[in-house]
Amino acid sequence: MATAARNGVGGSAGKPGYRFPPGFQRNLLWFAWRRFRPANPIVLFQHLVEAYGDIAHYKIGWNHIVFLNHPDYIREILVVQNDNFVKERTVRRSKMLLGEGMITSEGAGHRTQRQVAQPAFHRQRIPEYASLMVFEAARMRETWRAGEERDISRDMMHLTLNVVSQTLFATDLRDEVDELADAINRIMGLYNFLVMLPAAEWLVHVRPPGLAGFVRARKRIDAVVYRMIEAHRRRGGSGSLLDMMLAASPDQSAESEQRLRDQVITIFLAGSETVANALAWTWYLLSQNPECEKRLHGEIDRELAGRLPTFDDIPRLRYAEMVLAESMRLYPPAWAMGRCALADFQLGEFFLPAGTTVLMSQFVTHRDPRFFADPLQFNPERFTPEEKARRVKFTYFPFGAGVRQCIGESFAWMESILLLATLAQKWKLSLVPGHRVEPEPLITLRPKYGMKTMIEER
Ligand code: HEM
Repeated sequence: MATAARNGVGGSAGKPGYRFPPGFQRNLLWFAWRRFRPANPIVLFQHLVEAYGDIAHYKIGWNHIVFLNHPDYIREILVVQNDNFVKERTVRRSKMLLGEGMITSEGAGHRTQRQVAQPAFHRQRIPEYASLMVFEAARMRETWRAGEERDISRDMMHLTLNVVSQTLFATDLRDEVDELADAINRIMGLYNFLVMLPAAEWLVHVRPPGLAGFVRARKRIDAVVYRMIEAHRRRGGSGSLLDMMLAASPDQSAESEQRLRDQVITIFLAGSETVANALAWTWYLLSQNPECEKRLHGEIDRELAGRLPTFDDIPRLRYAEMVLAESMRLYPPAWAMGRCALADFQLGEFFLPAGTTVLMSQFVTHRDPRFFADPLQFNPERFTPEEKARRVKFTYFPFGAGVRQCIGESFAWMESILLLATLAQKWKLSLVPGHRVEPEPLITLRPKYGMKTMIEER
């Protein structure tokens, strides 16, 4: 366990007996909210690390919040003391879209959902998906033309939505993908507004002007999902994740239908947004690092010799995997995670009350020079097997850790390697000159202005 935070011990506040880490003395709501939060929570986190070290404390209203930036603390919360933590408050706003799906639910409800979905993510099942993934990427690469400008983050979103619908839901959504992607973009665009709006989950029922757009977009997503569920109910028998979810759904009451919708939407979004963003950032990083791009092309040409990749090629596409791992270090699609304590707890030398919110950020920890030398440098060599073995655990955690670790991790690695290899086999992407690139921490880490790239033949 990490010992004292860099700035020494914090004072005790509130009830006697608690020992709080150092941090903002005044309530963040009044003191720093205006300065940090609306602009970018990552800026607040980075400030906390610079000013207070591995663990920092602040308050919003009555709520105690601690921000962690040390692998020992992160392990303690996600693994060792996991039973004392729930996601609760930290996923309140995500629930407005995801409802009670696997990401946002707790306890028995969560356990059942995870058990139902597990077979679809089993090692033995994953290879089946490979050919569908490559098929979709090959189809997309045929629609690209040399010399055209494309928003690659939009293309990657379309591609990953198609992959998830084909692999996990045995559904061809090709005609509806545009609509789905637009609705998701609309919701993401409103996300910062939602986060800042007090009681947004209640206000959504009254629909003030800004939130009407959210409700409309959610309805459009729901309509696609309900159509897909209905079609499966009639047809059935695909053996897909959706069939497993249908079989586990007790009846067709309004409550069960709502649950089913929440489960499907969660997998849809978790499975497409994250991989799409990982790929969009990877294209950007490759365009800025021609040496790495050349090496990736060399590997693809050598290992595939002009044919499309298959599941069996994945272990040979080592450099592609290293590139993706390094890309997710610098631009982790899941950029922060939170937990809420059920009971008082000890963390290092600090003793914190039940109800404390604990936050950690992949974006911040992955860029800490103590764990990654020259952290802003894009260097896939950090992910050779030797370097990986040497790395201190919990300094790199793009997929989380512990019992709530990402269920789709193997799926995501396979998908991103196969999509990258298939597309990069034919095309090279360069950033359109003057295009602004800035990460925007929404539910996932998106490129704020999209990613305008020029398509070039290799
Ligand atoms: C690059 C891609 C991905 C990244 C970076 C990522 C990241 C994460 C992280 C960090 C968590 C844990 C959140 C927490 O503990 O608070 C998580 C959970 C989850 N992810 Fe992923 N994910 C990715 C891809 C996928 C895919 C492809 C799927 C499904 C097809 C998926 C489905 C889920 C689900 C259902 C959970 C909730 C698991 C639970 O709570 O039991 N993810 N993901």
